[in-house]
Amino acid sequence: MILDLHIEKLVQGGEGMGRMPDGRVCFVRGGLPGELCRVELLQDKKDFARGRIAKIIEKSPDRVEPRCPLYGKCGGCSLQHLSSEKQALYLEKVERENFRRLAHAELPENFKIWTGPAWGYRNRARVVIYKKKGGDVLYGFRMQKSNGVIPFQNCPVLTPALNAFLSENATKIFDEFKHHSKSFELDVNLFDNGRGEISYYYKGMPASEFKRNASSVVEIVDSKICSDASVFFQSNLSLLPALVQSVQNAVDEGIASGEACDEWLIDLFSGVGFFATVLRNRFKRITTVERDDGCLKHAKENLSGGGNVENVSAPAEDWLAKNVVDCPATLIVDPPRTGLPPSALEAIVKSSVNRIIYVSCDPVTLARDFTRFRDTGFTLKKAEGFAFYPHTPHLEMLFVLSR
Ligand SMILES: C[S@@+](CC[C@H](N)C(=O)[O-])C[C@H]1O[C@@H](n2cnc3c(N)ncnc32)[C@H](O)[C@@H]1O
Repeated sequence: MILDLHIEKLVQGGEGMGRMPDGRVCFVRGGLPGELCRVELLQDKKDFARGRIAKIIEKSPDRVEPRCPLYGKCGGCSLQHLSSEKQALYLEKVERENFRRLAHAELPENFKIWTGPAWGYRNRARVVIYKKKGGDVLYGFRMQKSNGVIPFQNCPVLTPALNAFLSENATKIFDEFKHHSKSFELDVNLFDNGRGEISYYYKGMPASEFKRNASSVVEIVDSKICSDASVFFQSNLSLLPALVQSVQNAVDEGIASGEACDEWLIDLFSGVGFFATVLRNRFKRITTVERDDGCLKHAKENLSGGGNVENVSAPAEDWLAKNVVDCPATLIVDPPRTGLPPSALEAIVKSSVNRIIYVSCDPVTLARDFTRFRDTGFTLKKAEGFAFYPHTPHLEMLFVLSR
């Protein structure tokens, strides 16, 4: 079925949304608010429909020509049709509405989204290096739904150093891997430490190669942070200092107000101890808790040099179940997209923590967790967004909650 729809707004996930003549909502990939689009329905459900644009009849002034020839195929940058300068404004509206809908609450009036470079920003990526029978070595992104690979030569959101590294080294990495594998496809994590030094990792990498090729050191806000390409690290180093500054402000404000103390910093979902490392001088005691064993040696190294520091390799919920937090410790949580495990949240609520600094990469689970904190007496003191992933609908968020 084909119908003409006015796009009212963008929704979480970046699709445009219009209303069908019968009142149902229709999600339109690539549609922008204010546009009149001829839409071909692809899904027609009881409560909603989904369609694709057959023709744009009235165009938004904020629509631009996507820069990347793989737009619409690779699936990675679904907002490239929206002017870079306007993306944060649109996402702000999406997040305000998302929070209203999911948490029945308002984001603070001064909620803003920090932005950085729109292109060449992404310093961490997972690519597939592969070879077809008799062909050259190629590389590309794995498609989200089909497991196929979209080859690229120059991805405009990757840092120039990552693009150059791939074009110069893909064959060498593939040959190195073929020494000990029969497969013709290799999933590789790549990391640019911000100085153009690239580390990489693939599953099964021998220890000697790991030492030589996977390790990295990132210099950020006066700290040197050891990591490697097999574990999590933030993927927008240009904008990361803004997030660090906001977390530092939130910590300092908490201590100054007495809501939190400098006796103990608990950094949950700590990765390689990133936040604890940049905050270490403020605290008498530090605990980092991270589930991925690969992070432990880095967390230890990053926080070495004395003081009362404990680096724990365990799920945060297990650590919380076994340890009593009986002072108003400064707590930072930075969970994965799934948000806080319910038992971790319940344990935090029952502890003596009165202030939570919550860094999130998924506004939906953040809103869900917020409602549970609110029901136990916490209020939202501060909210900030960080456009870590331009041209995508993803956003990094910081909430400060207190009771
Ligand atoms: C978004 S990353 C944040 C890492 C770190 N804060 C940083 O900025 O580099 C989330 C981290 O949580 C870890 N993780 C996931 N589930 C966990 C759990 N249940 N308990 C502890 N760590 C977990 C992941 O391995 C990942 O390192």
